[in-house]
Amino acid sequence: MTAAGTDRETRDAVIIGGCGRVGLPLGIALASRGRTVTLYDINAAAVDTVNGGCLPFDEDGAAEPLRAAVANGNLDATTDPASVGSADTLIVIVGTPVDEHLNPDLAAVPRALERCVDHLRDGQLVVLRSTVHPGVTALTERLLQRHGLDIDVAFCPERIAEGHAMTELFTLPQIVSARGDRALERASAFFSALTENIVPLVPEEAELAKLFTNTWRYIKFATANQFWMMANDFGLDFERIRHAIRHEYPRAADLPGPGFAAGPCLLKDTMQLAAFNNNNFVIGHTAMLINEGLPLYLVSKLEQQFDLPKMTVGVLGMAFKGGSDDSRESLAYKLRKILMLKAADTLCTDPYINDPRFVPLDDVLTKADLLVIAAPHPEYRDLVTDKPVADMWGIAGRGMRI
Ligand SMILES: NC(=O)c1ccc[n+]([C@@H]2O[C@H](COP(=O)([O-])OP(=O)(O)OC[C@H]3O[C@@H](n4cnc5c(N)ncnc54)[C@H](O)[C@@H]3O)[C@@H](O)[C@H]2O)c1
Repeated sequence: MTAAGTDRETRDAVIIGGCGRVGLPLGIALASRGRTVTLYDINAAAVDTVNGGCLPFDEDGAAEPLRAAVANGNLDATTDPASVGSADTLIVIVGTPVDEHLNPDLAAVPRALERCVDHLRDGQLVVLRSTVHPGVTALTERLLQRHGLDIDVAFCPERIAEGHAMTELFTLPQIVSARGDRALERASAFFSALTENIVPLVPEEAELAKLFTNTWRYIKFATANQFWMMANDFGLDFERIRHAIRHEYPRAADLPGPGFAAGPCLLKDTMQLAAFNNNNFVIGHTAMLINEGLPLYLVSKLEQQFDLPKMTVGVLGMAFKGGSDDSRESLAYKLRKILMLKAADTLCTDPYINDPRFVPLDDVLTKADLLVIAAPHPEYRDLVTDKPVADMWGIAGRGMRI
């Protein structure tokens, strides 16, 4: 269950959920700074992959330090819940989804701790790093007290973007929050292995800070998507307008381009914030309608221009963002579903994702009558094809008009 020959009696940290998309880069970053880290995870396949010195998913710049850290014993992975007793500092970074009714799962983090509670001990520091609904840090404090445990609790949200973790973990300021000075100092000292740039808050402020961060980004994407649809309906290329807006005009530099705003974080964190605010969150819900409606808009525009029921449509890129192998909550799948109803046939391809339903790009280019870029992978920048290409991202260099 653990890497052979690794002594887990004196680890600096155990990461619960440590083989996930954000837990693993954190473990690698800490190990690269000389910390000894055990990754506790219920995913046995991921644990085996990590102990073999390999990444279970793509993360830029993580493969080599992972190999080195496993080889020198700084990093190991296990499915053994008893491992949580082997370090003074525990970091919890399990998934915190919303359910099918868009309600947050308040118990995701407490449940992960309950699973290994028999192995927790007085004097430990538990750092929550999952993105949580406000109040979950307090819930966790009460849970540990109920079990008679004298454990410090901190909430220190992760703010990296997937694919950039191995630089951002060392360069982004770290928000650190806790209720008492001792917990705050312990958590700050722990993260000083990565950065000296610590921003202290109280837990409820930090919980909101993380949700505001992701929601702000989600709303910005929705704004760009609405602008794009407006310009597009008016027969104009939003790319030209956006270029003019941003050109040597720093106040508009953060206007994003249009595209599917999806993935495992932005929508669900906006919905967590809505739930926190008694579902009174007009701008958040509006952003959801715009972003989640984009595949429908796209297909409706294609229907106006093409005889879809007689056509094979190729969907290029199924990941939730460009250059990624992560398909979680990708709107490319929603696009595929809509096209399955509207088009004669739909072919999907993605160079980063292994899925038996997908076909190689060359086959799609040969067989499809119409191509839609659903994820802006760099591979599609120099697409050579005489087929029509619907490219709201403007990545193929032919503008954004559809
Ligand atoms: N993905 C991102 O870019 C990102 C960025 C910042 C913050 N976050 C937040 O980080 C958290 C984790 O996200 P993720 O994308 O890494 O999810 P993930 O699903 O990739 O990783 C979670 C890991 O936890 C493991 N796990 C689940 N329950 C467990 C348990 N009881 N005990 C031990 N291991 C358990 C899973 O097997 C998985 O490996 C979420 O709250 C998310 O919102 C994610």
